[in-house]
Amino acid sequence: MSILETRVQPAAESFRTAEQEKVAPVKRRARRPRILIVTPELNSTNSLKVRSGRVPCAKAGGLADACTLLVDSLSEAGADVHVTMPHFRNLCREPVISRRLHLCEDREFYYRRSVYDGDANANRRAALVFQRDVIQHVIPQVRPDIVHCHDWMTALVPAAARKMGIKSLFTVHNLHDERATLAEIEDRGIDAAGFWDELYFDRYPTSYYECRDSVPVSFMPSAIHAADQVNTVSTSFLYEMMEGKHPAAWNLIDVLRAKFSVGSASGIVNAPSGNWHPSADPFIAKRYDCDSQQAGKLANKLALQRACGLEEDAEAPILFWPSRLDPVQKGCQLLADILYRIVSDYTALGLQVVFVADGPFRPYFEQIADFHGLRHRIAICGFNENLSRQAFAGSDFVLMPSAYEPCGLAQLVGLNYGSLPIVHRTGGLNDTVRPLGQDRGNGFVFETHDANGLRWAIDQAMQFFIRSADERNPQISRVMRESAKEFSPDRAARSYFEIYEKLAGRSLY
Ligand code: GLC
Repeated sequence: MSILETRVQPAAESFRTAEQEKVAPVKRRARRPRILIVTPELNSTNSLKVRSGRVPCAKAGGLADACTLLVDSLSEAGADVHVTMPHFRNLCREPVISRRLHLCEDREFYYRRSVYDGDANANRRAALVFQRDVIQHVIPQVRPDIVHCHDWMTALVPAAARKMGIKSLFTVHNLHDERATLAEIEDRGIDAAGFWDELYFDRYPTSYYECRDSVPVSFMPSAIHAADQVNTVSTSFLYEMMEGKHPAAWNLIDVLRAKFSVGSASGIVNAPSGNWHPSADPFIAKRYDCDSQQAGKLANKLALQRACGLEEDAEAPILFWPSRLDPVQKGCQLLADILYRIVSDYTALGLQVVFVADGPFRPYFEQIADFHGLRHRIAICGFNENLSRQAFAGSDFVLMPSAYEPCGLAQLVGLNYGSLPIVHRTGGLNDTVRPLGQDRGNGFVFETHDANGLRWAIDQAMQFFIRSADERNPQISRVMRESAKEFSPDRAARSYFEIYEKLAGRSLY
């Protein structure tokens, strides 16, 4: 019998009347929507069921953490999730075998030592060949109902997906963007003529041939324009971009406003993964929760001071710098301006500063510490995840004076560990940190982005620190308790699930 022939109805079935057939329609469960996550970065995860072990880590920043949490949450919820990313052979030495992980092949990223290269042209080439593989091989093979793309490296995919009749969600994690002409895109093997009219050009193109060589395509505006739904990683960041507050994102203003006006753009704050919590952290000296934080943080403070060569002082307030020392985004120059002053003004308290971070500004902090002979009170350590965890646990305050911050994860991790954030009021920091008061708020927020603003917020934090332990500890415990609820991984995942279900028109499970 050919598969096209139908079988004869079994006898029992044939007794059904036409009426019965109407009231008892055959219940056929709709197939779960299949989601394809398209990302340049992913953190180590077990949830893709890789036969040879864990999916290796290709991480440059918070984007990797956000995507990993999403993949883990979708897998845990029983959703049909697939992931595609470049095959960074140097970053994943083990052969990776998973039905749900699709590694894109090209020598452009085989030999890299990090996700992004110092050379912008090389990054653009890598983005194009990655997307060529996604558009030509991965999507036709996986046949997803929804593609979820992350940042500029994936920004041509929504336009191609639209032509294939596949719904897409695009997430903006940061401001960085690139441009390329159609000629350059096609040289990398992408058949852009098939979807060029869904792209966004620097100036309005009259025809494909007129603009092919001379009018560049802007990547992120193209993605925002072509995607069915767009989100940024906080609501404030979305509004700031639409209001033109970020000059680097001038060409996103109109497309974002257009999407927002039809209800297709929103902000979803990221969440730290569940293992970034002091009660479940195997890498800190002593685990604790909101009820045992006083003793827990004290033991971890001493362990941190020992680990990074600081004077052991159980009473000293510790300020922790957790982010890349990047002066464009993270505001480290503000701290460099006042570092010596705060350490000397708060000598009586024994104030200490710990950096666990890499980046171009590191030598300046080293020079300040050495010049003033302050290595016993200022520790400058390269990035190391385990030490970073110990610093969240052992510090009292987390410093995040970012010039702009799409979301930020470190302030949320700080809240989980009872290390209160000191932040500039921008983007995701604005959405997650509120000035501390009696039984309300969770940190210290300054408005004007300069060294005086930061100094003011640090002074506020010290005012809090010198209060009696009976006043201080209940507040820290409350902040820990409240933030575990407010910024839970479930909450972030649920917001994405709602978008997927809206786009697919049916439930994920
Ligand atoms: C980028 C942003 C950061 C955000 C992260 C994850 O690294 O700079 O604010 O938290 O992406 O979305």
